[in-house]
Amino acid sequence: MLEHTIAPYGSDEPEKLMERFYNAGNEMLLTLRNYITSPDNRKKARTWGAIEVAKMVGVSDPTFRKLLERYPDLPGVVTETSPGNRKINRFTLEAINLLRTYANTRYSRPAGSKPLTIAVSNLKGGVGKTETAVDLGKKIAIEGLRALLLDFDAQGTATLISSGLIPDLELRYEDTITNTLVSNPEEIQNIILKTHFDGFDIIPANLAIQDCDLLLPNEHDNNQEALGSPYLRLTKALKQIKDNYDVILIDCGPNLGILTLNAIIACDGMIIPIPPSMNDYSSFIMYTATLRNLFKNISGKKLEYLRILISKHNGNNEALQMENMMREQFGRYILSNHMCETIEVSKAANEIGTIYDVSKPRGSREAYRRAIQHLDDVNIEIINHFKEIWAKQAEKAKQPIMEETVNG
Ligand SMILES: Nc1ncnc2c1ncn2[C@@H]1O[C@H](COP(=O)(O)OP(=O)(O)OP(=O)(O)O)[C@@H](O)[C@H]1O
Ligand SMILES: [Mg+2]
Repeated sequence: MLEHTIAPYGSDEPEKLMERFYNAGNEMLLTLRNYITSPDNRKKARTWGAIEVAKMVGVSDPTFRKLLERYPDLPGVVTETSPGNRKINRFTLEAINLLRTYANTRYSRPAGSKPLTIAVSNLKGGVGKTETAVDLGKKIAIEGLRALLLDFDAQGTATLISSGLIPDLELRYEDTITNTLVSNPEEIQNIILKTHFDGFDIIPANLAIQDCDLLLPNEHDNNQEALGSPYLRLTKALKQIKDNYDVILIDCGPNLGILTLNAIIACDGMIIPIPPSMNDYSSFIMYTATLRNLFKNISGKKLEYLRILISKHNGNNEALQMENMMREQFGRYILSNHMCETIEVSKAANEIGTIYDVSKPRGSREAYRRAIQHLDDVNIEIINHFKEIWAKQAEKAKQPIMEETVNG
């Protein structure tokens, strides 16, 4: 109950009311988070069963058993008791990646290839940018590659569902990208957070990153003399850490503020999620006009990767018609697989995560299997594209050496 006087349909003290909402809301998030996470308030690493793990490691069952015998103290193995009182081992991604290394099956980006920075962006809100970025980051890690996700939205949703940290309560100003972009690009090395997915790190966000929109455009505050253009700060900062990753994903907010501009300037590629509806489609068309003007002003800008992802597809007739129309117009720039709107994805979001966090589904196994299959199809399609790009880069990197050899 609110103690102070309120007008029948509103509040005489909106400031106090918002403060109450803010405090009560954060408290609720904290209670929910503490209910679903481990005692240290971090999300528990998800685990996989032995049969799945052998496939993920890429070895036969007998070889898998031999590997386990050879490494009895493998970190990241969790022993559970089954309902029949049988002890079973489950494996975290840390254990799986170690097994991949021992079996020599872990994917390694070819020599001469470069990490890819991908902005997940759309001007429209609620189209699935964060869901796409976080799920892709997790799937990249599940495949044994290394991903870094930059949360570039002050709402901090990517931070929350990737790490379980409550952005405004458990992160300080200096834990976000703000100081890196405003005053010291080297600071980026100190703000990377490991998540409960081995190989999936994040740079978190909370309301502090709104300061970038205030300080970076302002010549008195943006340190332009020492650090150069405020639009190139991310490009500069990423140089220091890029090589530690295969893919750097940027979850942009629904705006074209200076953070999004930094992301688009720094990126090698873009993924644009669009739900198959007329409103989302027409909003995307406006976005293309804005992007065209932006690219016109960035000389020499190239995109190694550009794909539209049909997101939040509910499978009804209208959505199917819209999908067909979009495919006709944008052809191969649309990913073959689309992201289905499913209850499983929303359920996982309500439990502060994504379905890649779910070790054992609580509801229907079949519905979960289908939902994860759809998501896997989208993400594997994208990851395969990245692998093709790297293979081509590696090939190109070899060419001068071969030419030199041929020419003596
Ligand atoms: N495939 C899906 N199935 C069901 N729900 C989904 C799916 N994808 C996204 N959602 C839900 O839709 C909502 C918006 O998704 P998301 O937060 O990813 O959008 P966004 O574009 O990042 O939004 P914003 O512009 O506010 O940052 C969220 O509640 C999310 O859980
Ligand atoms: Mg978002």
